[in-house]
Amino acid sequence: MLGSAFKKLLPDAIYISSKDYDLRDRNQVNEMYATHKPEYVIHLASRVGGVLANMQNLGDFYFDNIMMNTNVLDAAKEHKVKKVLSCLSTCVYPDKVSYPLTENQIHNGPPHSSNYTYAYTKRMIDIQSRAYREQFGCNFISMSPNNLFGEHDNFDLEDSHVIPAMIRKIYEAKQAGEDVTMWGDGAPLREFTYIDDICSISLFLLEVYDDPEPINVGTTGERTIKEIAEKIASYFNFEGNIVWDIYKPKGQHRKPSDNSKLLELGWKEENYTDFDKALQKTCKWFEDNYPNIRGVK
Ligand SMILES: NC(=O)c1ccc[n+]([C@@H]2O[C@H](COP(=O)([O-])OP(=O)(O)OC[C@H]3O[C@@H](n4cnc5c(N)ncnc54)[C@H](OP(=O)(O)O)[C@@H]3O)[C@@H](O)[C@H]2O)c1
Repeated sequence: MLGSAFKKLLPDAIYISSKDYDLRDRNQVNEMYATHKPEYVIHLASRVGGVLANMQNLGDFYFDNIMMNTNVLDAAKEHKVKKVLSCLSTCVYPDKVSYPLTENQIHNGPPHSSNYTYAYTKRMIDIQSRAYREQFGCNFISMSPNNLFGEHDNFDLEDSHVIPAMIRKIYEAKQAGEDVTMWGDGAPLREFTYIDDICSISLFLLEVYDDPEPINVGTTGERTIKEIAEKIASYFNFEGNIVWDIYKPKGQHRKPSDNSKLLELGWKEENYTDFDKALQKTCKWFEDNYPNIRGVK
């Protein structure tokens, strides 16, 4: 998803997907660097998923992510890449933590049990980046977005994040003339950032940020899952009922993040896309492209 957004902003960059190279395989990663000789790398590749996908695939999430991250960073050092920006996530923060999430708390306790292998592998990006900076002088930086959404997301109901799952469920319930059932009680609070904003922030960080500490990059301002479901329902003119299944997992209650470090660097709150506009663009994209959408077909 995020890579697709970058293609709009930086059409001439080189984009690598699993179809080009399997980043879990060190030989293929070496070949990738030798072939493309990048000076700057934005490392977005990851095995990602929602609560259920994480809980059911803890081992796969561990292996795939630790191998990809280790290979991408170590080979960047070998191939003398000038700068690497890696992508963490606010999911990597401890479950028991002081809010808002500030960057200095990232290693202060275990992450939430539902996604602990994904979280620990992301935390290891920070450790590897710092170690390589200290021992080899590598300029490896990392950013932590909060929940992302936008066009080209994964809309597979078994494996998706909350906004794409709700968009698909409401759209399909509308087509079928049925009610729609959502996971949890709708009460959890989350912050959501539009993918285009993360792309602009990434370029900004490549220019101005050279510190070892990860930096939070998402919009602040929490919204309930219920509020977002209602906005999506309103966009699609959905007239059925939204039923909340309280026996399904719902993740942490809240995890607000602090983006003041990013703002101190010169990024402005008003540079973020308005949430309602971004949600409408995403719903429209889904409507226009259905059913030829990742996770649907
Ligand atoms: N989505 C969110 O809400 C969110 C929030 C915070 C942070 N992030 C982070 O943002 C980054 C991008 O996430 P996204 O939502 O854009 O995920 P995504 O759409 O699933 O993209 C992940 C990318 O990783 C590639 N990949 C996976 N396994 C690979 C492998 N073995 N070898 C090579 N490439 C592989 C995929 O390639 P294929 O397309 O070929 O499979 C895909 O291009 C990730 O690092 C994620 O942790 C995401």
